[in-house]
Formats: sequence, C-alpha cells, structure tokens
Amino acid sequence: MEEKLFFNEKIEFTDGLDRTFVKLPEDALFVVDRKLLQVTEELKIFLEGKTVYLFEASEKNKNLLEVENIYDFLLEHHVSQTLVAIGGGVTGDLAGYVAATFKRGIPFNMVPTTLLSMCDSSVGGKCGVNFRGIKNYIGAFRKPEKIIICLDFLKTLEERELKSGLGEILKYGLIGDQQMLKDLSATERDLFHLPMKEYILSGLCIKSELVQADYEDKGKRNALNFGHNVGHAIESVLEGTLTHGEAVALGILAEIYLSTMKLGLDPQADQVVRKIMDKYDLKRTISAEAEKLLEAIKKDKKNDENMRFTLLREIGEPEIKVVVQEEEILEALTVILE
Ligand SMILES: NC(=O)c1ccc[n+]([C@@H]2O[C@H](COP(=O)([O-])OP(=O)(O)OC[C@H]3O[C@@H](n4cnc5c(N)ncnc54)[C@H](O)[C@@H]3O)[C@@H](O)[C@H]2O)c1
Repeated sequence: MEEKLFFNEKIEFTDGLDRTFVKLPEDALFVVDRKLLQVTEELKIFLEGKTVYLFEASEKNKNLLEVENIYDFLLEHHVSQTLVAIGGGVTGDLAGYVAATFKRGIPFNMVPTTLLSMCDSSVGGKCGVNFRGIKNYIGAFRKPEKIIICLDFLKTLEERELKSGLGEILKYGLIGDQQMLKDLSATERDLFHLPMKEYILSGLCIKSELVQADYEDKGKRNALNFGHNVGHAIESVLEGTLTHGEAVALGILAEIYLSTMKLGLDPQADQVVRKIMDKYDLKRTISAEAEKLLEAIKKDKKNDENMRFTLLREIGEPEIKVVVQEEEILEALTVILE
C-alpha cells in the first residue's frame, strides 16, 4: 500500500476493497451511490449495520434537494463523526458540499469509485451542486482530510464511464503531460488495458500542483478549465444525456479550434486528439443549437461581461483568461455540431 502526499492533498492508494474499508473511521456516517451496492458485494457487506445515506448518483440529483435530504440524515445521526463519500464525482461533490456547510463544516473523507473521480474530482476541494440547470453554480471549497483510491472499483465501471474519465485524462495530457498524450495516441491497448494508475497519478500531480498554487481558482488553477467552458455548456443544454467526460472531450475539440484561431496552436494537436477519440470511440459531434450553447457559456460562473477561456498556445502551455468573442465561439462550435 502506498501513502502519498500530493502537494498538501492526502491521498492513499490501497490494494483491495477490504484494505480500503479498514482505513475509514469506525463510527463514520456514509453517503453512498446506491448503484455500488448492486455491483460490489464487499461494500454491501462492509456497510451492514452502518449508518448510511443511499442515493441515486446522477447529474439530475446533484441538487439542493438532495443536499437537504443529507442535512436531514445528519440532523438525525451526526454528533462529531466523519462523513465519508463513497462514489463518483456526483457523490463527492454533493457530500463534500454538505460536509462544508453542515454545522459550518464537519470532518470529511472520500473514496472515489470512478476513473473521473480518482484522477480529478476528488482532489482540489471544489464541491457543490447544480442550480437552475447551471452546472456547479452553488458550491464551496472543502478538501477531504483523506482520499482513498482503490483501483478495484474500476472493475465494475461501465465502458462509457471509463471513457468519461478518459475525457479528463485527455485534458491533463494537453495542459501538462505530453508524454501521456503521445502514449495514448500510439498505444494499441484497448480501454480496459490502459495503464490507468499511471494516468491517475499524472492527473493528480498536475491538478494538486495547480491547486496548491491557486486554491481559490483566481489564476493558475484556471488551466484545469481547458475544455470546460464548452463542456459545461454541452452538459447543461443536453441535460445529462452525455457524461461529464464526453462533454469535456467535445469541449476540448472546440477549444482546440479556438486555440489555433486565437493563439496559433499547431493544428497537429487537433489531429492527435481526434485520433485518440476515434480509437476509444468518444463522440466527436452532437446535435444541438449553437445559440443555446452560447447562452449557456455566457451563464457559466467562470464568465463575467467577457467570456474568458483557458486555451492552449502549445500542447503543455495553457493560457488562461483569453477573452473570446461570441462569433469566434459560434465558429468553433461548428466543429462539434452535426
Ligand atoms: N469537484 C471537482 O473538482 C470536479 C472535477 C471534475 C468533475 N466534477 C464533477 O464530477 C461529476 C462527474 O463524476 P463521475 O463521472 O464520477 O459521475 P458519477 O458520480 O455520476 O458516476 C458515473 C456513473 O458511474 C456509476 N458508478 C460509480 N462508481 C461505480 C463503480 N465503481 N462501478 C460501477 N458504476 C459506478 C454511478 O452510479 C454513475 O451512474 C460531474 O458532476 C462533474 O461536474 C467535479
């Protein structure tokens, strides 16, 4: 078993589900993605007799109503125990927000169970919920005291959810790990045989370093938003029909186009990304109205009177807060619209 401190983020890797569970506080209260009980017998057994709030993890349920339900659960059971989230990014974001706000903050641990949450959403302290159809509009910063990553959870993950994680991994390759991008482009391995631990570690390193430099996301951390201005708009407009990572991968294609247009990014970057997306069968186009996407981008919390994007000057060289005009966005959207 490894125990690592990634730039102030206490992350442990465990080998085997049983070894994961013994790391959790004996008297913890749990928020758990209900689906996990259907696919992971060990978890079901571990949770027997424990105090658990089960819910259906979906983008639609990442909302204030579910937050209130968990407040009620805590009102009934909480004295001073740690709240443990077991699930993907939805569970982590939701339970993290509750942990940040209930009694002005209670102890919090996270066990991410999707590729996306292992390499991305579990670290960095951002938590929150969607509001009035806008992604992550209500939120807080709350780092878990402990994040425990066990790759065994990936064994039950559906192919589509692995692909979703790949969307964020692509982003990491583009903003900070050229080697990973080259490997992904060259490998003949299928999705289930990719070296996920390496990719997770790379993602965690890139993200934790940026988070340590700029926890409140006022500058450097914005690099992580690459692909997300358009990605979040797609998620909002298509109302949860795409996974987060699928939307981010599409956002990456549009934002690569903008990067070439505005910062002279080598068009080769687009080819590398398309090659990877094709190999792993990630969606490259969607059916949506450009104007609706533009409206959603305008509403994104990252934007004020100007629309500011994180773009790439080169692979590995993100540039933050690049002001982009409406007509430029509309042109870039044509590359992903059917
Ligand atoms: N806080 C952050 O910094 C941050 C960063 C990136 C993304 N996010 C958020 O993360 C969310 C996406 O996360 P996600 O992709 O993990 O979504 P998710 O939590 O909805 O999980 C995806 C699906 O996988 C299922 N699942 C979870 N673990 C499983 C397992 N081990 N086996 C089988 N099925 C399993 C879930 O039930 C769900 O159907 C989005 O809401 C996004 O906004 C947050």
